[in-house]
Amino acid sequence: MSLDEARASDVAGAGTRLGRRCYDDLPVDTPPDPMSHHSPPAWHPLVVLVLLPVFGAAACAGGNDAVFTRLPQFPTFAHQNAASIALFQEANASAREAPATADRIGRLGMTYHAYRFSDEARRSYEAARDLAPDEYRWIYYQAFLEKSIFDFPAAQSLFRRALELDPDSAEVWAELGDLYLKWNRRDDAAESLARALALDPTQPLAALGQARLALLTEDWSGAVALLTPVLDAHPRLSLAHKYLAQAYGNVGRGDDSARHQSLGDYGSAIETPLMRELHELSIDAILEGGDPSEAPALMQEKCTRCHTSARIEETQRDRRWWAGTVRRMQREAGWAWLSDDQAASVVAYLATRETAPAHTPR
Ligand code: HEC
Repeated sequence: MSLDEARASDVAGAGTRLGRRCYDDLPVDTPPDPMSHHSPPAWHPLVVLVLLPVFGAAACAGGNDAVFTRLPQFPTFAHQNAASIALFQEANASAREAPATADRIGRLGMTYHAYRFSDEARRSYEAARDLAPDEYRWIYYQAFLEKSIFDFPAAQSLFRRALELDPDSAEVWAELGDLYLKWNRRDDAAESLARALALDPTQPLAALGQARLALLTEDWSGAVALLTPVLDAHPRLSLAHKYLAQAYGNVGRGDDSARHQSLGDYGSAIETPLMRELHELSIDAILEGGDPSEAPALMQEKCTRCHTSARIEETQRDRRWWAGTVRRMQREAGWAWLSDDQAASVVAYLATRETAPAHTPR
């Protein structure tokens, strides 16, 4: 290895160790003494001046390469349409542009996450977090990701880290409490959920969690008190109706119980603003080009797996709403269950059906 290469790789090494900082905090160490006999070739000050930017570039390329090799391989897309694949290509190319930035790499993670490519999303978030360890978003998104794939310890430490950065987030306390509930750690759950409700008494996930704990201890009136105000803000929250039905059933209010039971059939999901932003990424790709004539048969087969089609039939909403809803169902059941092309057909059908005779494909 020549001296130049050795020095360049040294500097690049420093750049790599420094990772994210390589392009602005590049360490500039002094060149060897040009008078020394032991350092051929002689370092003329001018040569040094010319070479320094090269070392800088080498250091940056080294730092970037180290980041880029950590990014996920571009996956094979079996169930995605051209619009989705273009979205991934764009996010992937942008994440690999030098200099590496946490924003572009995190955005790649969000794109993978929105389509449930969990491993790819995790790798991207981790690379983004290396570049920007204190950036809330990548911690938050990775916490949700780990929770969704049941890596509870990982999700717990990420939510805790998010709370260090934003201790007053009722939403994150609620998520952490909900995580403990799923993990069957009831005391920890009660503590986190109480923190959430102290910050925001109608935080829906926190109220649902505390109500569930109340039901488990047969505190029926406690559950009713927690859930009633939440339903004012989120009238379609199906779990709240289910829990209320149970609570009213146990205090002998059969009519109320039956009413909430039927309302609790299935309803809307709770989505935090940051998660909504992430889910939005996947919506445009199924807004256009679907063939509505395929949809009725497809829905007959696909959409009756988890619930009846009553709510689908009675709901009249625009194309974007349907695309968001069908995406949610896909995240629930997977793309192997419903591909992008099929999703676009369903969306096209559901959004245009009001202009056609009801339930007849156009
Ligand atoms: C894997 C199970 C599953 C499948 C399959 C499924 N859904 Fe759902 N669906 C749910 C759940 C759970 C809810 C309630 C929570 C929510 O809205 O996310 C729901 C709620 C809904 C709602 C009410 C949403 C609201 O906000 O009012 C509509 C409409 C709906 N689904 C349509 C569909 C359509 C159309 C399909 C077929 C393309 C489908 N579902 C397939 C699980 C499923």
